[in-house]
Amino acid sequence: MGVGETKTSNFPPSLSHASVVRKTKLSPFLFTLLFFFVLFAYLYGEDLSQLVGQRRPADAIQPALQLGQSSAISARIIESEKRKVKLPFVIDELDDGESCNLFRGKWVRDEVTRPLYQEDDCPIMDSQLTCLDRGRPEKDYQFWRWQPFECDLPSFNSTMMLEALRGKRMLYVGDSLNRGQFFSMMCLLQSVIPPHAKSFVTSGSLQIFTALDYNATVEFYWAPFLLESNSDDAIVHKLSDRIVRRDSINTHGDHWKGRDIIVFNTYLWWMTGQKMEILQGSFKDEKKQMVELSTEDAYSMALNSMLSWVKQNMDLTKTRVFFTSMSPTHAKGQDWGGEPGGNCYNETTMIDDPNYWGSDSSKSIMRLISDILHEHQDDIPVTFLNITQLSAYRKDAHTSIYKKQWSPITPEKLANPVSYADCTHWCLPGLPDTWNELLFAKLFYL
Ligand SMILES: *[C@@H]1O[C@H](CO)[C@@H](O)[C@H](O)[C@H]1NC(C)=O
Ligand SMILES: *[C@@H]1O[C@H](CO)[C@@H](O)[C@H](O)[C@H]1NC(C)=O
Ligand SMILES: *[C@@H]1O[C@H](CO)[C@@H](O)[C@H](O)[C@H]1NC(C)=O
Ligand SMILES: *[C@@H]1O[C@H](CO)[C@@H](O)[C@H](O)[C@H]1NC(C)=O
Repeated sequence: MGVGETKTSNFPPSLSHASVVRKTKLSPFLFTLLFFFVLFAYLYGEDLSQLVGQRRPADAIQPALQLGQSSAISARIIESEKRKVKLPFVIDELDDGESCNLFRGKWVRDEVTRPLYQEDDCPIMDSQLTCLDRGRPEKDYQFWRWQPFECDLPSFNSTMMLEALRGKRMLYVGDSLNRGQFFSMMCLLQSVIPPHAKSFVTSGSLQIFTALDYNATVEFYWAPFLLESNSDDAIVHKLSDRIVRRDSINTHGDHWKGRDIIVFNTYLWWMTGQKMEILQGSFKDEKKQMVELSTEDAYSMALNSMLSWVKQNMDLTKTRVFFTSMSPTHAKGQDWGGEPGGNCYNETTMIDDPNYWGSDSSKSIMRLISDILHEHQDDIPVTFLNITQLSAYRKDAHTSIYKKQWSPITPEKLANPVSYADCTHWCLPGLPDTWNELLFAKLFYL
């Protein structure tokens, strides 16, 4: 809804309302003058506000208000515009000032500006994600740019990002998909930092990249459920019997304090296809008290815990919180009309059905995230990175068999690459760079 629309539809009622009542006491001359002014303002409201030098729609509401009227709708818009302006790190609006949905769009081939960096130029990168180095024979997946329908994405500017992080700390918290986005951010930033001015250390669940000259860090903290679980070891965590502990957000949350930007994700680890085992007491209890919850109930519990942690531990007038939606997988070729038994292996093109969603990504979880974040938006503003749909098209962008293998692949498996292709994680440079471009856009331009 355009702000201009709201104005014209609200303006007439005021004529017969507050302003006219007061005006009956005015002299006929003044009354006539005022009448024409009001009429002029009504007919040429948009131009008038430009004459007065207020070009942004958000500001354009102001003259209407000064003429003594308000309504639930315009008040609400002003409220939300004000809040937008107050959000830390925001410096401007996207081109047209209207809010543009960055997540509705299409992929366009771009061999000029993509990829944003070369695999070889990012020595920090995890060998799980360096697909070319691990033998991927083509790199078509690197040359795609996300183009929103309604506006252009601002170009990622590493210097600007580092300047914003000067003396600050940014933290990604979640699972290996979020770690991929963290590595992407490091690769994007490190290109403008000379070798002696950066460091990278791993300490337990925490990985820290430091830009020394900026006194800035970008960090990752492994917590695949956000809550305490039996999968919290940052190295050895593959478990089929997953247990999550209720009300345990502070176990990990104590390690997230003092950050200026936090980017959360959590999804894949909840997708056991069964009810979740929830621990009521402590992992140290001799006799463990367990309850079973549906995936949705368990997931909501974690999301609500995250929000209450944010509320208690972050000053949202100075800091920002992001939540990245589910990263889709491409484990079943039949989902996109491929060969039965196939998966992302040997896929070099993307899915071109704009409505493609796939069978693995849960719509109910998506709705939950959106409902819960929306419900608390006024109180705990979390910026939602809705990456699921745009990533669902990218069956070509997974690491597939081109990653470091933890254990040797058996000859039987080698003969059938589909059997060990990783259709969950993504090559870098690649898709997660787009997630960070979206983060960049939302951080500075909302
Ligand atoms: C996420 O973006 C997609 C693509 O624009 C859209 O269809 C979907 O409704 C969005 N989901 C939420 C929860 O905003
Ligand atoms: C990137 O940001 C820096 C610092 O804000 C600015 O000086 C520079 O012009 C920007 N570069 C581009 C290409 O916009
Ligand atoms: C570096 O940044 C931290 C916050 O991340 C701040 O507490 C510290 O004072 C800064 N140090 C210097 C030398 O600016
Ligand atoms: C990979 O896909 C191409 C068609 O896109 C096909 O010709 C080729 O045989 C496939 N290779 C393998 C090893 O499956």
